[in-house]
Amino acid sequence: MQKIKFYGDPVPLEMHKVRIVQKLNLIPIEERVKAVTDAGNNTFLLQNKDVFIDMLTDSGVNAMSDRQLSAMMVADDSYAGSATHTKLESKIQEYFGKTYFLPAHQGRACEHLLAKVFVKPGDIMITNYHFTTTKAHVLLAGGTVKELYYPDALDPESDNPFKGNMPPDRLREAIAEYGRDRIAFVRMESGTNLIGGQPFSLGNLKEIYQICQEHGLPLVQDMSLLADNLYFIKEREPAYKDAEICDIARELSDNTDIIYFSARKLGHARGGGLCTSDRDYYLKLRDLVPIYEGFLTYGGMSVREIEAIAVGLEETMDYEMINQGPEFIAFMVGELNKRGVPVVNPAGGLGCHLDAMRFVDHVPQSEYPAGALGSALMIAGSIRGMERGTLSEERNPDGSEHYSNMELLRLALPRRVFTLSQIKYAIDRVTWLYENRHLVGGLKFLEEPKMLRFFVGRLAPVSDWQEKLVAKFKEDFGDSL
Ligand SMILES: Cc1ncc(COP(=O)(O)O)c(C=O)c1O
Repeated sequence: MQKIKFYGDPVPLEMHKVRIVQKLNLIPIEERVKAVTDAGNNTFLLQNKDVFIDMLTDSGVNAMSDRQLSAMMVADDSYAGSATHTKLESKIQEYFGKTYFLPAHQGRACEHLLAKVFVKPGDIMITNYHFTTTKAHVLLAGGTVKELYYPDALDPESDNPFKGNMPPDRLREAIAEYGRDRIAFVRMESGTNLIGGQPFSLGNLKEIYQICQEHGLPLVQDMSLLADNLYFIKEREPAYKDAEICDIARELSDNTDIIYFSARKLGHARGGGLCTSDRDYYLKLRDLVPIYEGFLTYGGMSVREIEAIAVGLEETMDYEMINQGPEFIAFMVGELNKRGVPVVNPAGGLGCHLDAMRFVDHVPQSEYPAGALGSALMIAGSIRGMERGTLSEERNPDGSEHYSNMELLRLALPRRVFTLSQIKYAIDRVTWLYENRHLVGGLKFLEEPKMLRFFVGRLAPVSDWQEKLVAKFKEDFGDSL
């Protein structure tokens, strides 16, 4: 969207139109409670037919463009030497200037390969903030994760525009404390997922890269949420306000040794990949691709998806494409702020994040407030969010709970998928739930897997709070869905 002035109230205005639609269902509240119960109060286990507004994630569910869909029809579907792979490789070279590209089936597959190559038992991986699957792979390889962020990165009310920044002095201190040899690599995550889709600045990345170079440490950048970070650098970092998006992308890459990404996010398709210009890193990673992913010219991806990623990358360099997500999110966050609903500010990328620590401040962390809020919102509005709090953490080695720094219910806005009226419906139901928040109670585990428990763990309410919530809904909304 170019800067468009409105005569009346401004709204985020899409620079695309919708030409394929999918019908949605909104089932009655009694059926929503049954769906939540059958899913063990875990929004990952819901059937999509029971969900009206699916805000679980943006992963693999962003709307694709007409250009992407048509590119998929001309994919060179060969096992080895596919021209489609060469097309993506040259797009990577064009935008990121990296010599080598290795395909992988998705983001966590890249993390698996990175952990195998770089992490030895006892090592430390330093990051601006962890992501669930990144941490799991580092832990599985016998390492630990050390997060370095500014204190207000976790403050939902702070107006810091770059909460994803890593404090350079703390990186220096960590290198002095652990010694270079114990540090597997330094990782910067663009659009930092678990703290509310918050960006880092290019200025900060440059400082961090400088320090890494001084100590011979590889700097790895997770570019899964690159599109949002590009948008925020242009909008919030004065030095780049007139820069072209592709020039910002190039500078981000120039200050990074290894890039990896989930193409379920970056490029609006399904897949992933690693890029580097360092031959030694390339060779180490390359040897693992045929073992764990597939041959070097598809890496576990459908070749059609690779075509779609190549076009998706091109579209990521278009400001009018990448601004839609953050501007819709800013609208939702702004409206919820006006209604006093606690959300993460400033509005980030990826989604609108409800701050469960304040939303349901009577639910203790031991009863998973963000998970409970997820169940409650599904009951109140058939809106599926994702818990990003204590449930999404691994337990400590002694089995005790590892309480998360933040308890967020993420309401993801897959790009170009929802209309403004659907967002307004979500705002309405979230607001109703906030006014009735005292009715929301906690959750307890029925079945708890050892790792990444948030994916398939099953929980139950600690009391009959869900029935009370339904009764209040009926009192306020009558027969309305
Ligand atoms: C920042 C970040 N890194 C890595 C991943 C993992 O990617 P994938 O889901 O493709 O395995 C994700 C997925 O959500 C992510 O958000």
